[in-house]
Amino acid sequence: MASKSSVQVLQCDLSSISFPSTLEFSGLPEVSSTRTLDALKIAAQRLVQFEDVVAFPTETVYGLGANALSSTAVSRIFSAKGRPQDNPLIVHVSSFPMLRRLLPSSYALSPIYEALIKALWPGPLTLLFPADSNIIPSAVTAGHPSVAVRMPSHPVARALIAFSGVPLAAPSANVSGKPSATRAEHVLDDLGRAGRLRLILDGGPCPVGVESTVVDGLGDDGNLRVLRPGGVTVEDLEQVARSLDLPEEKRPKVLVYRRDYEDKKLENAPTTPGMKYRHYSPSIPVVLLMTTSKPTNSHPFLTFYDAIASIIKAHPKEHSAGPLKIGLLATSDSPLLNHPPRPSEQFMIDHFPLGSRTDPATSAARLFDGLLTVEKNGADVILVEEIPEDREGLAFMNRARKAAATLIYVHNE
Ligand code: TXA
Ligand code: MG
Repeated sequence: MASKSSVQVLQCDLSSISFPSTLEFSGLPEVSSTRTLDALKIAAQRLVQFEDVVAFPTETVYGLGANALSSTAVSRIFSAKGRPQDNPLIVHVSSFPMLRRLLPSSYALSPIYEALIKALWPGPLTLLFPADSNIIPSAVTAGHPSVAVRMPSHPVARALIAFSGVPLAAPSANVSGKPSATRAEHVLDDLGRAGRLRLILDGGPCPVGVESTVVDGLGDDGNLRVLRPGGVTVEDLEQVARSLDLPEEKRPKVLVYRRDYEDKKLENAPTTPGMKYRHYSPSIPVVLLMTTSKPTNSHPFLTFYDAIASIIKAHPKEHSAGPLKIGLLATSDSPLLNHPPRPSEQFMIDHFPLGSRTDPATSAARLFDGLLTVEKNGADVILVEEIPEDREGLAFMNRARKAAATLIYVHNE
């Protein structure tokens, strides 16, 4: 393992990288900044010649990449993250020809996959394809018959893959179970300082901020099953399905796991994103404040003030030193802020704004950053405000529910 001092962070200027618009292009992009070009070459060399891991920015979250065609390289991802071996990885490609080389030669894309790729790649959409075990090591697929693939739109990610000349397997660049990293600083704090990697490419904050949407369209019924909601919304997928030249009853349906269907077999098998393992949890407790949904049966319905009183009771401050520090992740126009409980000797609130209530993309982009930032600022407990589950709100609530150990229903007034 690398020592602390050997972690290198190389700055990359994403605006200096340009790809032609066609996905068929399989050459190298133009890179006008010498510093960025050097960083990409150094990183590609680490990945290919040293079979090492490298952290790099994508439009969703930072990835911890390794050569997807090398079992040795892929095994380093699992040890660096402390990731369970039975959780498969997403393979990242930089061009359509690179995707084709990964897939069984007899496999033809379905019309809905062709339309999704045309409309939404490069971007935060991961699709499942049949896996050829002669091409993709079983460590990547965890021995499953499908492989998850996406083409990132972040210029640094796509350029790194192109310069490496091989697809990169990359989970989010965080210790398994922790919130995903959306800034190079998060990667450094979480994996870097612990000596779990040697090189981080810094491309600034990730614009989407939540992971890609994982879609399985391989079923016999031709429908699209959303295994993990993410940066591409269900509304985006439905729009692509509607664009197919098919009568409504023949169009693929977009089915969201848990909302539209359940699958016991899937739930027990860890291929399903985040269903088996604990996820997105900082080392301090997270409480989800349900401000939009009404409580069902036995859940109490509290005022914000009473909710805070119950949190103080549940988390007595160790050493009784000072007020309980509460990190509050709430929208900037949240009804919770209309009548904020007055600070007392018992608690203080550090508000991390999640953008406007009508802008779920910003809330999703800021969620992981918020969890990590208020924790770093010394919070004892984090409160996350519920947002409506439409558009990016679906991915936001999926991550927030997994991060939170407790859920409290609060009145808006
Ligand atoms: O946005 C993203 O997807 C980021 C960036 C780095 O690209 N990557 C990411 O990877 O979130 P990771 O490993 O944290 O999450 C990948 C999810 C896992 O929950 C895994 O279970 C699921 O994708 N997955 C991978 N291969 C699969 C397969 N063959 N079948 C079903 N699920 C699969
Ligand atoms: Mg992850």
